[in-house]
Amino acid sequence: MKFFIDSANVEDIKKAYKIGVLSGVTTNPSLVAKEGVKFEDRIEEILKLVPEVESVSAEVTPDAITAEEMIAEANELVKINGGDKNITIKVPMNIAGLETCRYLNQKGVKTNVTLVFTVNQALLAARAGATYVSPFLGRLDDISEDGVLLVSKIAELFRIHNLDAQIIAASVRHPDHVTRVAMAGAHIATVPYSVIEQLTKHPLTDQGMEKFAADWVKAPKN
Ligand code: G3P
Repeated sequence: MKFFIDSANVEDIKKAYKIGVLSGVTTNPSLVAKEGVKFEDRIEEILKLVPEVESVSAEVTPDAITAEEMIAEANELVKINGGDKNITIKVPMNIAGLETCRYLNQKGVKTNVTLVFTVNQALLAARAGATYVSPFLGRLDDISEDGVLLVSKIAELFRIHNLDAQIIAASVRHPDHVTRVAMAGAHIATVPYSVIEQLTKHPLTDQGMEKFAADWVKAPKN
């Protein structure tokens, strides 16, 4: 399973990129709004920061309701950073989003169908030519449904029917989500930097470091 960072924060993206685990970046209107910068400018900045990743998702805005409106926005987004090949257009899971997805797929533009909460939605997105589908597991857990189970069912479905779309496990809230979606067959987990940091931690690692440091003080130095 690969890691994407779910963030529009330049400092967090830089930190994740530096440790070599980053294969992509996902953003959404809520994440961009937190940054207080113009959406297109931040996407361009991110594309420049992480040239070696496979995908940077830029979502059509909530102002785009019809497929025509989504396509018009997508046609502008794909021009960012000189038509960067990594730009991935994120569309909502609905009829207009699927139509946009099909259009972009035919143009060779990568797509990410977001706000997926059922197996049927994932199947439709894959059939419409989505490069990525994003089930939001944390938000399902929030309403007492099993988000990881959804990821595992989508993974099985894609295997049975040889569907090429990659599953991005999104709305990942903690390290156990990461372990469980990796075991469930997600191709990618998109996670906030705070979760990446948590993944490095174990109390025995800290204790071991403290012991090494304490013993090292006692070791003869030439
Ligand atoms: O980027 C989409 C998703 O990861 C949002 O997560 O925590 O707002 O449900 P969350």
